[in-house]
Amino acid sequence: MILPTLALLSAASVAHAAAPVATGTGAWAAAYSSASAALAKMSQNDKVNIVTGVGWDKGPCVGNTPSIGSIQYPQLCLQDGPLGVRFGTGVTAFTPGIQAASTWDTELMRQRGQYMGAEAKGCGVHVLLGPVAGPLGKNAAGGRNWEGFGPDPYLTGIAMAETIEGMQSSGVQAVAKHYIGNEQELNRETMSSNIDDRTMHELYLWPFADAVHSEVASVMCSYNKLNSTWACENDRAQNQLLKTELGFQGYVVSDWNAQHTTTGAANGGMDMTMPGSDYNGKTILWGPQLNSAVNNNQVSKSRLDDMAKRILAAWYFLGQNKGYPGINIKANVQGNHKENVRAVARDGIVLLKNNGILPLKKPGKIAVIGSAAVNNPKGINSCVDKGCNDGALGMGWGSGSVNYPYFVAPADALKTRAQSDGTTVNVVSSDSTGSVSSAASGADAAIVFITANSGEGYIKVEGVAGDRNDLDPWHNGNQLVQAVANANKNTIVVVHSVGPIILETILALPGVQAVVWAGLPSQESGNALVDVLYGLTSPSGKLPYTIAKSANDYGTKVVNGDDNFSEGLFIDYRHFDKTNIAPRFEFGFGLSYTNFTYADIAVTSTAKSGPAIGTILSGGRADLWETVATVTATVTNSGSVQGAEVPQLYLTLPASAPSVPPKQLRGFAKLKLAPGASGTATFTLRRRDLSYWDVRTQNWIVPTGSFGVSLGASSRDIRLTGTFTVA
Ligand SMILES: *[C@@H]1O[C@H](CO)[C@@H](O)[C@H](O)[C@H]1NC(C)=O
Ligand SMILES: *[C@@H]1O[C@H](CO)[C@@H](O)[C@H](O)[C@H]1NC(C)=O
Ligand SMILES: *[C@@H]1O[C@H](CO)[C@@H](O)[C@H](O)[C@H]1NC(C)=O
Repeated sequence: MILPTLALLSAASVAHAAAPVATGTGAWAAAYSSASAALAKMSQNDKVNIVTGVGWDKGPCVGNTPSIGSIQYPQLCLQDGPLGVRFGTGVTAFTPGIQAASTWDTELMRQRGQYMGAEAKGCGVHVLLGPVAGPLGKNAAGGRNWEGFGPDPYLTGIAMAETIEGMQSSGVQAVAKHYIGNEQELNRETMSSNIDDRTMHELYLWPFADAVHSEVASVMCSYNKLNSTWACENDRAQNQLLKTELGFQGYVVSDWNAQHTTTGAANGGMDMTMPGSDYNGKTILWGPQLNSAVNNNQVSKSRLDDMAKRILAAWYFLGQNKGYPGINIKANVQGNHKENVRAVARDGIVLLKNNGILPLKKPGKIAVIGSAAVNNPKGINSCVDKGCNDGALGMGWGSGSVNYPYFVAPADALKTRAQSDGTTVNVVSSDSTGSVSSAASGADAAIVFITANSGEGYIKVEGVAGDRNDLDPWHNGNQLVQAVANANKNTIVVVHSVGPIILETILALPGVQAVVWAGLPSQESGNALVDVLYGLTSPSGKLPYTIAKSANDYGTKVVNGDDNFSEGLFIDYRHFDKTNIAPRFEFGFGLSYTNFTYADIAVTSTAKSGPAIGTILSGGRADLWETVATVTATVTNSGSVQGAEVPQLYLTLPASAPSVPPKQLRGFAKLKLAPGASGTATFTLRRRDLSYWDVRTQNWIVPTGSFGVSLGASSRDIRLTGTFTVA
């Protein structure tokens, strides 16, 4: 099976069991020549050392490899995680990935990456363990979805590219994780994700291709199995897809303790083991074991050379051989980075409902209600790895969390604002329905805070073992809102959540005048919220996932056992569109304080049908990344205040393509427009954006026929349509 398909890839892809050897193509040429020179000075022991972590809890970082004296290679520091430097005390708590996705703002995404990279470097961290494209988020309840950028592979792919390029521009090695199919926390270390080849390419692998195209230094293999073989020793995933098809020049590092065998991992394409031992420090699968395996010819010398060379090349590629700071996780490196946190927190806020109550205009009296309006009374960092849901919610829990340097709680920021307006504020920091009605009644507006939280499965919070048990708000949020809305017909609901919750109960309450989806704002929570509630900024976030009317509407759920991914391509809006289920708030939805009109769509294309034929560079065949169609449209701010709009382009492939989703996101822009002003949204479509994955020929094919272009303010608010034909 494997031999003929691989042979089709390119003449250069050698179709035998050996793992592909990186040759230093494209941007990596200089790094590989330095790596080759260094490798020549290394003993076999040195090579084994550079690929093997020093063992759990044996170094200054969550992962460490020993220094290699013969080549002046330092003790390498690998540290979590995707939103900043874990365990740092002088670092910024950046917004989670899902909030960055919610902004649909590539400049903010890139700056976020750049600042995270700068802080990592300032702490002497060589390898920062993020960003996250797996989980992609096929299950709305998936515990770690919030670390990534949501269930659309295109949006996630763009966010991966921006983040990685930002991080690496600051000199730190980025790690695209978790590769691949780690879509839930339940049984993540035993289950098999059985993903068909087309779904793999069009959904789960897609954003990793963006990561490789952006020259990511490293990819982390995940805990789960794929078709019953561990991800970290999966020849198909690592040797074939990642290193051959995508031409990945960096190294594969294991998730912590995700390695299971010595030779299987080595020959299956893993290049570095972390942390180097199990958590008891007893089982060590590489180190001396790898040495023996090489001496016994179970692992070839060239495989060991390739592992070491990939790791060295990444180090040279990032320029870390020149004047890199020493390791000091406690360094104060925040600079002005909180400005990015505030901007992402603010511009990621999605206004879901507004009957005209927002923005607030100097109300005489407001009530601020809910335990989530105030800081955790035990302290903002009192729960290890954020493993609790007490007080304001800024991020989920697990290894992808960081310490807050400070946290501006919503109630505090509202009080500050109220002071300058002369507004009376009544704060009730309780979720008990009995205590809210007296506070809420008589206020010009009652602002009630609810949450939903999730995280990594090694911590259980209030009965939630990672993945959420349901899509309801925590702490009886529905009842709390009901009590407030019964007492005050000007109720504003603010939701801080890791992902979709079912809002039907809340939306049915006549007293609920507005719903503000504030996501996961991290340390600048209150400031960002006040910016939007008071109209200092018009809300401009758009949902990076669908909010359904019922949890069952998603058609996917966390499974107990192996997951066959039988829904195939049809996750999130692809599923709602295919099955004609009306969502409550569709993917891409978000209101504003102003209005936008769309006009003058223009479509041009030079695309030719057929397979991609380019040589393989980082990210796959080169021609897949070439622009083959351009769409432009004029967007005008027809309202009365400054605002920003996110026009979105959805593509419908011609009928000649086999069973494709009704429409797929293939472009977006963010236009900041003064009242009355117009801007041009330009969408460039790459060959891959027009292609489907053909399993038989193992290639991306541009089908013949008429492509449908839908441009709109969400996946279901289509304002302009066009077509282009490919012969
Ligand atoms: C898993 O099996 C499916 C069905 O045979 C196949 O299409 C896919 O390529 C396999 N994936 C991996 C990673 O082995
Ligand atoms: C997945 O597929 C296997 C093999 O066809 C089957 O035995 C198993 O029941 C399926 N699992 C689920 C959750 O559907
Ligand atoms: C936006 O348009 C709607 C309907 O056309 C109108 O009711 C509303 O007043 C407009 N809002 C602004 C801010 O212009």
